[in-house]
Amino acid sequence: MSLYEDLGGDEAIGVALDRFYDKVLADATVSGYFSGVDVDRVKRHQRAFLAMAFGGPDRYEGRTLKAAHRRPREQGLDQHGYEVFMGHFRDTLTELGVDATRVGEVMAIADTGKDDVLGT
Ligand code: HEM
Repeated sequence: MSLYEDLGGDEAIGVALDRFYDKVLADATVSGYFSGVDVDRVKRHQRAFLAMAFGGPDRYEGRTLKAAHRRPREQGLDQHGYEVFMGHFRDTLTELGVDATRVGEVMAIADTGKDDVLGT
């Protein structure tokens, strides 16, 4: 069964995204990177992030991950911020009842973007 099905389809994914970004935006360690970023762009961020993490259809045609995160990097985004952000994603999946093995798989997929996001 795909993670998409595990979570319960479109509606559940919307719930997951809301939960995830509530956590990110409530955490001062990472929320600052999103201040001044317009809401539509944050939503694109959510979708692009999730499509990648879930191995879903990649219809993203925007800037490369490396270019898209130049500004956050200049604002200090580093390994720690990355881990905090990913930790909120992990917690969200766990709270929604996704089993630990699946959570591990998803985190591994999401991590393939790490070097580009951090510019390393
Ligand atoms: C693998 C992990 C990640 C993926 C796949 C991802 C994906 C993306 C994409 C596709 C964009 C461009 C969105 C757009 O402009 O329409 C973007 C922008 C952005 N991302 Fe991420 N992201 C990841 C991790 C992070 C992390 C860890 C942070 C901060 C804690 C972050 C903060 C931001 C911010 C603030 C922007 C907007 C930058 C700007 O417009 O100046 N992202 N991300």
